Amino acid sequence: MSMAKTLLKLRAHVSVAILAALSPLLVAAALFWELFGKLFFISSSPKSIVGEVAVVTGAGHGLGRAIALELAAKGCHVAVVDINMTGAEGTVKQIQEMAKVRAKAYKADVSNYLELVQLNRDVVSDLGPVMVLINNAGILLHRNTVNPEPAEVQQMINVNLTAHFWTNMVFLPTMKAMRKGYLLTISSLSGLFPLPYNTTYTTTKAGTTAHMRALRMELALEQLNDIHVCTAMPNFLEANEEVRQLTNEVKISNLYPLISVKQAAQRLVDGMLRGEREILLPGLAALLYRLMIVLPVSWQELALVLTFGPRLKQLCALRN
Ligand SMILES: NC(=O)c1ccc[n+]([C@@H]2O[C@H](COP(=O)([O-])OP(=O)(O)OC[C@H]3O[C@@H](n4cnc5c(N)ncnc54)[C@H](O)[C@@H]3O)[C@@H](O)[C@H]2O)c1
Repeated sequence: MSMAKTLLKLRAHVSVAILAALSPLLVAAALFWELFGKLFFISSSPKSIVGEVAVVTGAGHGLGRAIALELAAKGCHVAVVDINMTGAEGTVKQIQEMAKVRAKAYKADVSNYLELVQLNRDVVSDLGPVMVLINNAGILLHRNTVNPEPAEVQQMINVNLTAHFWTNMVFLPTMKAMRKGYLLTISSLSGLFPLPYNTTYTTTKAGTTAHMRALRMELALEQLNDIHVCTAMPNFLEANEEVRQLTNEVKISNLYPLISVKQAAQRLVDGMLRGEREILLPGLAALLYRLMIVLPVSWQELALVLTFGPRLKQLCALRN
């Protein structure tokens, strides 16, 4: 190995050693910063979105509907987007009953780039430029969990992962031109704590979380600090009926109660408007993740297998 390469390698090793030596200090400083912020309420107050226009994908049901209602309650006009128009129109009706904002239902498949381009044109002409994008639409389960059809795997990847590239490509340019905006992406706790027998879902959610981290850094480098990107990572919710039924049947809901969509929507919209970067639900999961991540991978996997493995295996048997 040449002298230059050896020196480069040595420099990298020394940098890691310095970081390791400093890490107790860094952890203490980070804890102090968090506690100080909480004790003296220096976390920023939520910004107003009165009169802004939001696009909420998958807003015809579940968490998406609850977020659409929460945004409307805060005075934001809402484009309710779904492949299920009956659901989307139901959400619009609920918004109109409770808030004096404009709301309209749109049919669009988030995995189809051209449909999203048309959606943006329609929303801009009906409601105005989009300043809030909620990437919520998602597919939760395969029909056959153990041996899904290739087409089903591809569809879940298209909707849960690829679609975020398309929505960001379509809606971010306006936010960049106006140098402001909000993007809330619904990932999942399973992106951080991978679940056996849910490889496609887990993979798409881990990818989405990484996508948003990279996007935040790009926006910071472009000095677009008033475009806030927030990633939500909830545990099981009281939303999708099939998930709710299955989690009850295999008693996953005995580990931690399912979170109500209204509660989740309030916490996520509030956090987004305060400029939070990542929100784990329940909050306890953030501490659990930090404790787990320092353990060897084999220990992390064992902990997850012991906690969820038998239940998820039972869940697969029920579905297949
Ligand atoms: N339910 C949970 O336990 C849970 C847990 C963690 C994360 N999440 C995530 O939260 C989000 C919402 O989940 P939910 O439980 O409310 O789901 P849901 O099934 O209740 O609602 C999803 C909505 O998205 C729509 N949709 C599906 N594919 C679409 C597409 N291609 N284009 C446009 N709309 C589409 C559906 O028609 C439906 O109205 C998802 O991203 C999901 O992965 C859910």
